[in-house]
Amino acid sequence: MQIPFLDLKRMDEELKDALKSKFTEMLDQGNFSGGPEVNLFESQISNFLKSPFSIACANGTDALELALRALEIGVGDEVIVPAMTWVSTAEVVVMVGAKPVFWDTDEDGLLAENWEKAITSNTKAVIPVHLFGKMVDMVSLMETARKHNLFVIEDGAQSFGSFQNGQAAGTFGNIGCLSFYPTKNLGALGEAGMCMTTSARLNERMRLLLNHGQQVRDEHELVGRNSRIDSVQAGFLNVFFEKFELFQTQRKNFASMYLEGLSGIDGLQLPISILEENHNAHLFVIQTSRRDELKLFLREKGIGTALHYPNILPDMKPFQSAGNFSNARKLSNQGLSIPLNPWMKEQEIEYVVKAIQDFFT
Ligand SMILES: Cc1ncc(COP(=O)(O)O)c(C=O)c1O
Repeated sequence: MQIPFLDLKRMDEELKDALKSKFTEMLDQGNFSGGPEVNLFESQISNFLKSPFSIACANGTDALELALRALEIGVGDEVIVPAMTWVSTAEVVVMVGAKPVFWDTDEDGLLAENWEKAITSNTKAVIPVHLFGKMVDMVSLMETARKHNLFVIEDGAQSFGSFQNGQAAGTFGNIGCLSFYPTKNLGALGEAGMCMTTSARLNERMRLLLNHGQQVRDEHELVGRNSRIDSVQAGFLNVFFEKFELFQTQRKNFASMYLEGLSGIDGLQLPISILEENHNAHLFVIQTSRRDELKLFLREKGIGTALHYPNILPDMKPFQSAGNFSNARKLSNQGLSIPLNPWMKEQEIEYVVKAIQDFFT
């Protein structure tokens, strides 16, 4: 059996047909920048996540950068970032001229407690990342941030559809950022992202920043850029969104099969709370000190896996920083993402479970 980590060619024919029809419809309508699909996409996301302002943009990295710019974070400012995340979270801080200050994660890769110890007189913001789809405890984080007068930008790139006591990831902080990169739970057929906020002022500012500083064509109120969402991607996302809940059920079913089949194996740590509402089952990351050996073993059995992520940010050339990042480093050395996506079959999950069981016995 060959089980790729993720193969988007596998999406079902019915869905492919719906996407093709949407493209044909859009070709006939001739709207390729802005337009009804973008408006529909923003309003569907606003309703689903109960986000008053949802601002679609070109990708998740831009969403984070727009958030920082909207909050006027720049030269001389510091922003607290977890040591283990996708590079974008720290990259954007440097792009706006500020300094990322890294703090360790907990065992699951979420910003570890006591992060306020990293606060200095220059700290302006903190970026919690809902890594692998699991949410940071936002009630406690918001309380600490408020106490220290810090902005909160949630990196919800991996957590679309995760909720904490009914409130969506990305709607707790001043600004929440989403990515619709094709591999995400809600993914486009290309690049797309979004900023969310409850503030009318930030909404207006981000909309200006992503459209050359203009609200009305040729009337430039500030220096911005082009980070508008591709309308065709908004159209595709509207098609995918119709299936979102179904795909989530599928992911949760498979995650539950993994948990059942892999529990009780000595030396194997399973993800925590992946079946709960505060986790969207984006990635199923197992941890073992024999990670590299297991990865090879699974490859020989035809099973694709991935590393999220093989290097922690403070060790990377552009960000070199000293500090105690032992949890993040351990997760980076021991974590292995096994295939979990709605295009899989139950027999494939069973095959992966059996292979991992064989490896450990
Ligand atoms: C945690 C995290 N932050 C930011 C991003 C950036 O999103 P994008 O790839 O859409 O720029 C991603 C996704 O790739 C991500 O996983």
